[in-house]
Amino acid sequence: MSNRLPLKIALVGCGRVAEKHLQAINYLAKKNKNRVKRVELTALVDPFAEARQRILEKYKHRNQVNFFDSLEQMFSNLTNHKNKPDLVAITTPSSQHYKQAKLALQNDCHLFIEKPIALKLDHATEILNLAENKNKKIAVGHIFRYFPVIGLIAADLAEGVFGKPLYGNVSVRWGHDQAYYDQASWRGTREHDGGSIMNQSIHALDLMYWLLGEPELLSAKGSLSTQIHQMESEDLGFGIFEFADDRWLSVEGTTNTDPNRPEASFFLRYTKGEIRAGILAGKISFSILDQNGQQLRLKYLKCDILQRIKQEGFSYLLQISNPHTGIYLDLINAISLDQEPLADGLSGLKALEMVIALYEDAGVDSV
Ligand SMILES: NC(=O)c1ccc[n+]([C@@H]2O[C@H](COP(=O)([O-])OP(=O)(O)OC[C@H]3O[C@@H](n4cnc5c(N)ncnc54)[C@H](O)[C@@H]3O)[C@@H](O)[C@H]2O)c1
Repeated sequence: MSNRLPLKIALVGCGRVAEKHLQAINYLAKKNKNRVKRVELTALVDPFAEARQRILEKYKHRNQVNFFDSLEQMFSNLTNHKNKPDLVAITTPSSQHYKQAKLALQNDCHLFIEKPIALKLDHATEILNLAENKNKKIAVGHIFRYFPVIGLIAADLAEGVFGKPLYGNVSVRWGHDQAYYDQASWRGTREHDGGSIMNQSIHALDLMYWLLGEPELLSAKGSLSTQIHQMESEDLGFGIFEFADDRWLSVEGTTNTDPNRPEASFFLRYTKGEIRAGILAGKISFSILDQNGQQLRLKYLKCDILQRIKQEGFSYLLQISNPHTGIYLDLINAISLDQEPLADGLSGLKALEMVIALYEDAGVDSV
């Protein structure tokens, strides 16, 4: 399975989220503390030349980067070329993910797919099966798994430190104005995007599912409304999920709030403790209480920071605000050690399953 470093990366889709990928790629394309250069950007793919150029200008390294209009064109040009990518990062509109993921896997590339992994369950399953057949790794853009402290909490939960998960509640108030939906024809449509649950809430659902111990989904209730935006999909959604072993999750997801104050808040209750976390206008707060009500926040934070410095050096601390760097690091590690990254393809499928179950209960056919 192991690939030689640096891994050659093709970035497919040069829009907004591609900038987060570029920030991570810039960091990983420098030599690390072991004097190893882990990645190299070798191709930018987008039908718009200005979009490719805009991203290239942010790339800080000197190697040659090839431009292509489409992924098909890239593979027909690079298949037997020394610059053929090892890893394809898909940052295109959500309805493109399935087709592009398949093509990349058929050409023996590992994948970083932005969330949602696909818009249909059978498409996501097909991607996972193909990756398994090809022995390739998939990471999905579920950024919350890579926020500080979260990985340590998940490991302790798995060890039973907090007892049994009981329920969770998450609110994602990620305001967008009408201009956000008007900037591209795919945004807010059922066929290419979905609304506040599929697009803005899916990584929060993924995190909650993970921290509830990844139980089997038994049922979902959902209600959706399009209150203030001119768009096809919902700008407000509510859901209640029942899982095996009497575990529960409720979600509120909206884009109707102030775009200048994006907010997400998380609450998880266990038999031996509780966790609260929030982001409001970029400010993060969190609390981790044990069964005696003792605050463990500082203990986890210290441990997290020391671990990151030990693994990556002090320079990594500047990357903490970009969880995409954490996803790339985890994926590169997974490729070299033949293991699964934290936000693997299965996490993408499970999160999609929850969104689609909520949509179906709300009377919306999955696309
Ligand atoms: N993980 C996260 O935090 C996060 C954040 C934002 C968006 N996303 C996801 O990332 C994806 C892209 O979102 P965005 O906001 O960057 O969109 P965007 O519209 O800003 O960028 C998409 C880019 O893809 C290009 N494109 C379209 N079709 C293409 C094709 N067939 N081949 C190559 N390029 C093509 C467009 O020209 C555009 O430059 C979506 O799936 C979205 O859900 C994830």
